[in-house]
Amino acid sequence: MVGRWIANAEVAKLGQRRWDEVPVLSGSQVQILPSAPYFFQLLVNILDNVSIIRCLLSCLPRANGYVACSFGLCMMGEEWGHRKRARAVVRGVSSNFDQAISSYFGTHTPDPVSAREAHADYVAALREQGVEIVSLPGLDEYPDCTFVEDAAVVVADFAVIPVMGHPTREGEQVAIQELLGKDLGLIQMPEGATMDGGDVVFFDDCFLLGKSTRTNAAGIAFFEQVVGDLGYGTMTLEVPDSTLHLTTVCSSPKPGMLVAAEGHLTPEQLAPLANNGVEILWVPNEEAYAANLIGFENGVVIISADYPITKRIIEDAGFTTRSVDMAHIRAADGSLTCCSIFY
Ligand code: GLY
Repeated sequence: MVGRWIANAEVAKLGQRRWDEVPVLSGSQVQILPSAPYFFQLLVNILDNVSIIRCLLSCLPRANGYVACSFGLCMMGEEWGHRKRARAVVRGVSSNFDQAISSYFGTHTPDPVSAREAHADYVAALREQGVEIVSLPGLDEYPDCTFVEDAAVVVADFAVIPVMGHPTREGEQVAIQELLGKDLGLIQMPEGATMDGGDVVFFDDCFLLGKSTRTNAAGIAFFEQVVGDLGYGTMTLEVPDSTLHLTTVCSSPKPGMLVAAEGHLTPEQLAPLANNGVEILWVPNEEAYAANLIGFENGVVIISADYPITKRIIEDAGFTTRSVDMAHIRAADGSLTCCSIFY
């Protein structure tokens, strides 16, 4: 990952602190801060092509467990600090789950009783990882309400409340907004723009945004403006007709790594990330559903049960897996990340 140069306003914030206030960062990425003088940025861009110099840069001194940060340069590694895993909002399965929208991975009428059992196991898996669960009751009038990911996107200390992209789901946000508003600032998306949170993959200093049947150009433009003001970058990907949301076929088990589904996303689409040192694990098309997973800093990754190739790929990459049987959630086009909002 050495030599991944990304302008990063969040790092710039760190750079404005004293050296010894910069949090411990492992690994050896080097990033240039937007606050660096222009001539320095030019110099660093030239040095970027000289691997030996990059290695020297990666050896910049660390003191007292903190990373040296000066002249616009900051050592970066696997930075979990941006990912929120302390608490998760989840919501019970609607008694009308059998009417949930099901057009993609969903292959049969969703069963509310079995889905409740699966959801309970899902919540247990989150608790095992130390996540505090904030549970909202399921709503009879919203068959898809369990898929809370779509109803709010947490960005730093704010929650963006989108205009959801399917008319039957508009209104699910109300209780979630009230709940998140106790701890986070709320940013309401304007009418005309639409977005489902399922089209947002948070990638530490960047948000990957899916343009889909649920998320329109105005929704993306609004979100870009919001997160840009907060110091985050964005990258937009066209979500193919074969899938509902971006998160359906793409997720991130840890900083610097993405999992993506063959046959849905393409290497060309992700090339800008791969060229910047992001490691991409591809799962085969027949297991595309399993590309949606949830990673934790301790190396545990929650995966969907019964996708053996993906399980092996994830374990070969050094993770410990915890499987959850998602078959009855999948029946309504829901995946692991769909069922929680971390904050
Ligand atoms: N069933 C999830 C959705 O269509 O939004």
